[in-house]
Amino acid sequence: MEVIITDSAEATGTIAAEAIERLYAAKPAAVLGVATGSSPLAIYADLGRRVDAGTLSLAQASAFMLDEYVGLAADHAERYRTVIERELVARVDIDSGRVHGPDGAASDLRGACAAYEEAIRAAGGVDLQILGVGTDGHIAFNEPGSSLASRTRIKTLTSQTRRDNARFFGGDVEAVPRHCLTQGIGTIMEARHIVLVATGRHKAEAVHHLVEGSISAMWPATILQMHPHATVVVDQSAASRLQLAGYYTETYEAKPDWQAF
Ligand code: GLP
Repeated sequence: MEVIITDSAEATGTIAAEAIERLYAAKPAAVLGVATGSSPLAIYADLGRRVDAGTLSLAQASAFMLDEYVGLAADHAERYRTVIERELVARVDIDSGRVHGPDGAASDLRGACAAYEEAIRAAGGVDLQILGVGTDGHIAFNEPGSSLASRTRIKTLTSQTRRDNARFFGGDVEAVPRHCLTQGIGTIMEARHIVLVATGRHKAEAVHHLVEGSISAMWPATILQMHPHATVVVDQSAASRLQLAGYYTETYEAKPDWQAF
């Protein structure tokens, strides 16, 4: 696992966007794994600037979302599909028809989960997965206790996550759905490169477990320690509980040019 500690939240976006630009320069039809929440917003803004500047094109790309709420109306502003359209698709040149997400409105939710797994497989898997982390260590919507080998399925959100996400629903916890469809931890772990971004002191405990804690379903993000190519990009506040912060910084500063991530 590579840990990069930046000076600002914007810089986490720049570093992740750089990795994405490099990927698409080498593989124009690469498959991008996209996440919602506040953490990836700096990445999407940066990707938009790169597309405008002509250094990046997602014209041949396809994308897969991590998760979706169950039961939100198709036009709901906080439906993850709507969020990704607004925050990413509108800023870049990706074909919206090639952006996929689990169908939280399906009458057969289990069938929708199986179909989603199949769609990811048929696309050849995810090349680079953008990931955030919840304050309770969840990735996508894999809450504490999730099987570390899980596949796309229905999950019940914890009250912590519903409280955290209430800010997107006018502060009303009751407006946050109780259920979601989420890629499983096993599904996420199949992405060839995972870039996790986290900023702010409220993420420090989760980042501490994720990077330096014991692997446990109690902190689902800890499974990334088993991933052969995971990059964790955090600001100083999110890194504030890392024991080896100095070592990670020295390693990154001394990284030779040829060893791009
Ligand atoms: C949400 C999403 C996750 C996200 C996490 C953190 O519940 N399902 O994909 O990583 O919470 O969100 P944020 O980046 O807003 O802190």
